[in-house]
Amino acid sequence: MEVDVFTLFPEAFGWFTSQRHVANALRDGHTLGLVNYRDHTPLRSGQVDDTPFGGGAGMLLRVDVVEAALRARYAIDPVRLPAGRRVLALTPRGRLLDDELVDELVAEPSLTLLCGRYEGFDERILEHFATEEVSIGRYVLAGGELAAMVLCDAVMRKLPGALGHEQSALEESFSSALEGAPEYPHYTRPAEYRGWPVPEVLLSGHHARIREWRLAQARAAAERRPLP
Ligand code: ADE
Repeated sequence: MEVDVFTLFPEAFGWFTSQRHVANALRDGHTLGLVNYRDHTPLRSGQVDDTPFGGGAGMLLRVDVVEAALRARYAIDPVRLPAGRRVLALTPRGRLLDDELVDELVAEPSLTLLCGRYEGFDERILEHFATEEVSIGRYVLAGGELAAMVLCDAVMRKLPGALGHEQSALEESFSSALEGAPEYPHYTRPAEYRGWPVPEVLLSGHHARIREWRLAQARAAAERRPLP
């Protein structure tokens, strides 16, 4: 999978790319390209943003700057990009990121992520260059970088080989293996601590009973905290 992130702060991704599962994915040939809008601005003095027409607070990423960065990366008119790849703009109003969307995205050969800063994007960027908007929650971040990292983290850990143990991404919270429910509780040694015992069934070695218990726990958790 080839992921490109467009941002004004590529250095913010340094920690992220050093994460084990991301490093594993990159080692396996997946790529994470970081493109700084500022490196491609056609404006003098490195300008990338401007004040909103009609007034209002904050600054907006300019459409000509984003176009120049996309052209430099893909060597085509970016209005043609959505025909060939998903171009996701990170915005608070977008489609909420969930396990279903993550599964959709991990099946893509390539993704482009556009991070906004300041007040966000000139609307024409979203209308003409992006295929969709994605939000990581109904709150406003100062920029799209953290949201892009959240999305990339969730997607890249599902790439085969990224976690190093394939089962863990299959049977986890919100997966179809657990009927979309949150994951069941886990325990490790010691088997008893301060009088708090690990559920007996987990020590039984009886795999069918353990599976049954885990599914029942996941269902109970889903009932306690129904998803929005
Ligand atoms: N940019 C600013 N806030 C955001 C959010 N909640 N999700 C995605 N991108 C954002």
